[in-house]
Amino acid sequence: MIFRNYSLRKRNTFGLDYHADTFITIGSENEAKKLFQNRIQISQPHLIIGGGSNLLFTEDFKGTILSPEIMGISVEEKKSDTVTVSAGAGVIWDEFAEWCAENGFAGTENLSFIPGNCGAVPVQNIGAYGVEAADIIDRVRAVSVEDGSIMEFTKDECRFGYRTSIFKNQLRGKYLISRVYFTLSLRPEFSLSYGSLRQEVELMGSVSIRNVRNAVIKIRRSKLPDPQETGNAGSFFKNPVVDREKAEKLLAEFKGMPVYDDPSGGKKLAAGWLIEKCGWKGKISGRAAVHDQQSLVIINPGDATGKEIYFLSEEIKKSVMERFGVGLEREVEIIGSI
Ligand code: EPU
Repeated sequence: MIFRNYSLRKRNTFGLDYHADTFITIGSENEAKKLFQNRIQISQPHLIIGGGSNLLFTEDFKGTILSPEIMGISVEEKKSDTVTVSAGAGVIWDEFAEWCAENGFAGTENLSFIPGNCGAVPVQNIGAYGVEAADIIDRVRAVSVEDGSIMEFTKDECRFGYRTSIFKNQLRGKYLISRVYFTLSLRPEFSLSYGSLRQEVELMGSVSIRNVRNAVIKIRRSKLPDPQETGNAGSFFKNPVVDREKAEKLLAEFKGMPVYDDPSGGKKLAAGWLIEKCGWKGKISGRAAVHDQQSLVIINPGDATGKEIYFLSEEIKKSVMERFGVGLEREVEIIGSI
């Protein structure tokens, strides 16, 4: 379906009321194919969106937004220990995670309650509580925006990294993801070492897919604002990685600073901690604010503009750089001029 001058308020979790010149919903892979073979309807620039949970619009979008709304979850292949299932790009991620728990398929439970749609899951390789989407993705099916051809990307071809993939870099805007295939486990090995997760699960009784899912939901609810109630896009920044020397220097000065090993050999710092130490937790700036339970989250308490949210993020970056000499990189994507 094609809409003109379409309000994006319900299409971005900051709840910002900008408009798109053209907004096209795509209900099937075939529809996508036809649309891309005859591209005249797609005024440029174009943007493919999922649940809009990682975007910050700063103005109206003068082009076409494509919204894949391809539904359906199916079991593709069952082996003795694993099962491969697929989900359409338009399936709400947490509804998929709930379906997995219901069926006893393990792998998504630590990623429970993350807002967004399945199609966006590989794009930014969502992650939480020691697990990331790359751990369970088998392959990704997509339609080329250039000519409507279908392509399947193996996990390696997706080039997953921390909150990133080929779809965010080299192939940005070039493919519309139609389905994602996951390999889930029938004999779960749980990942409970992150923070207080194990403790929360044990409070609920046995260690099971359902209890891990419930514990993750409980922790997320206590720390992160619900985008249905307060506009936000989860973590606004990535956790920065610094070299060992820099981490040691900071640790000597700031005892108790959280530091994690990074696969790159460097050290990952907690952006939320750095931001809190700069005094930003719960602070209001213009009509935007920093969440009072998790400083990594910028919120729109009501009628903030995209530019106000952006401005606040710049102020935060500046003070973290001044105090710690650490550069923060945004996780949220800015769409529009700044
Ligand atoms: N911390 C503070 N103050 C704060 C926030 C955090 O001191 O205001 C400290 C915490 O006490 C903890 C450390 O920083 O020692 C890490 O905090 P937390 O466990 O809350 O996780 P995070 O590193 O801030 C990351 C992800 C989240 C994910 C959680 C749990 C990124 C950018 N963020 O946050 O992902 O839910 O871990 O795994 O990697 C998202 O991407 O939108 C998101 C919410």
